[in-house]
Amino acid sequence: NATLLFLGRAVVRAQALLGDPAARLLGLSPSRDPYPVYESVRGRGVLVPTRMGLYLTASHELCSRLLRDPGFGPLPAGALSPVDASVQVDGRRLVNPVEESFLVRNPPDHTRLRRLVAPWFTPRGLRDRTATVERVVEEYLDEVADRPTFDLVGDFAARVPIQVIADLLGVPGADHAAFARWGSALVNALDGVRDLREMRALQAALREFEAFLDDLIAHRRRHPGGDDVVSALAAHDDLSREDLIATTELLLVAGFETTVNLIGNAVLEVLGHPGVRERLLADPGYADAVVEETLRHDPPVQYTVRVPFESTEVAGTRLPKGTPVMLMLAAANRDPAVFADPHRFDPDRADVREHLAFSSGIHYCLGAGLARMEGAAALRGLFRRFPDLKAAGRVHRRPSRVIRGADRLPVSTGVKKH
Ligand code: HEM
Repeated sequence: NATLLFLGRAVVRAQALLGDPAARLLGLSPSRDPYPVYESVRGRGVLVPTRMGLYLTASHELCSRLLRDPGFGPLPAGALSPVDASVQVDGRRLVNPVEESFLVRNPPDHTRLRRLVAPWFTPRGLRDRTATVERVVEEYLDEVADRPTFDLVGDFAARVPIQVIADLLGVPGADHAAFARWGSALVNALDGVRDLREMRALQAALREFEAFLDDLIAHRRRHPGGDDVVSALAAHDDLSREDLIATTELLLVAGFETTVNLIGNAVLEVLGHPGVRERLLADPGYADAVVEETLRHDPPVQYTVRVPFESTEVAGTRLPKGTPVMLMLAAANRDPAVFADPHRFDPDRADVREHLAFSSGIHYCLGAGLARMEGAAALRGLFRRFPDLKAAGRVHRRPSRVIRGADRLPVSTGVKKH
């Protein structure tokens, strides 16, 4: 049926986009440390062929070169599927938030759409937003302040970014919970939909989200002048409904779980490195360096894919037009050709800014500055409030190969219960 076809296709593409088949091929699984697997790829050469016609690279030099090469782009919509992209669900086409957004589009569309939302991510915009983010961090810390234990992800890390994006988009407070639910549903779908139940849930989430955005857009058109992203997009008469929805959904998909996992991974690094905690307690400004080194050492987005627009030669291999190359960003971040002692977590390293956690070239993460700022504000607030924070149980990893991080991280605060 059309619904299943649509969703099946969307998921297959999302997986292909983010290299999931290759992850399976390599035997990557959420419960397994991926870094030794990445080293085995590095050991096999700069550009490694796989049985599936997909190539892999763990080379920092090659990843950065292909990300910046105008002859390469993201996997195009429909690349893996012969099915027509315009399947109708209940008489209307659902917008695919991944493959219709500017994340996977090429110039000139990419340039046009990215430019519309770029003003919200300038250094000045970020400075104005810092105080709000710090306030949000403190509010959520207040809620757990007198609890001896809490879940660092569910009770804290997962709550800050959603609030920040909702604010940016102008989503009213009463809708934040639903907004978070849609965000999680869309991100989880990147790792595959296993059965009919999950497929229906994803479809329901997409449909609800679109209906919500249609209402929000209509409301903003009736009451123009707001300084949020949706108000600004709604004011562009020449923007199609699909572009407007895909752009808004992209900001949620790209900015939510990625930042949650940056915060979670950074806390895990601090808990595992007592010297780093001491430095952070003595100097809260050290949080910036801890966040940057977390992005290098254990990045939330582990890989992306690029394809050549025309047949070309790469590292001595002829790649026909459209051949997908999986760029293993997390592996590139530990390339010994660029990073000294690459497996060591060291916020003081001089070469940290070379990392590719935010990609490179024209698709360089638009929210990089915001993510860095949120990550540092979360770390500063957390360890100021709970200097004795400790892990208090098993870390539960997200069931994902694309996004790396914990989805449950029990911690004890050192606060005595009265
Ligand atoms: C693109 C990572 C946070 C918005 C990307 C890409 C990566 C990435 C790797 C490029 C993918 C590619 O080249 O194929 C991350 C990480 C984050 C984060 C690790 C947190 C730690 C955010 C936030 C926002 C955001 C907070 C906005 C609210 C975007 C957008 C793009 C993007 C709009 C598409 C850019 C384009 O195609 O021109 N991100 N991101 N990201 N990110 Fe982020």
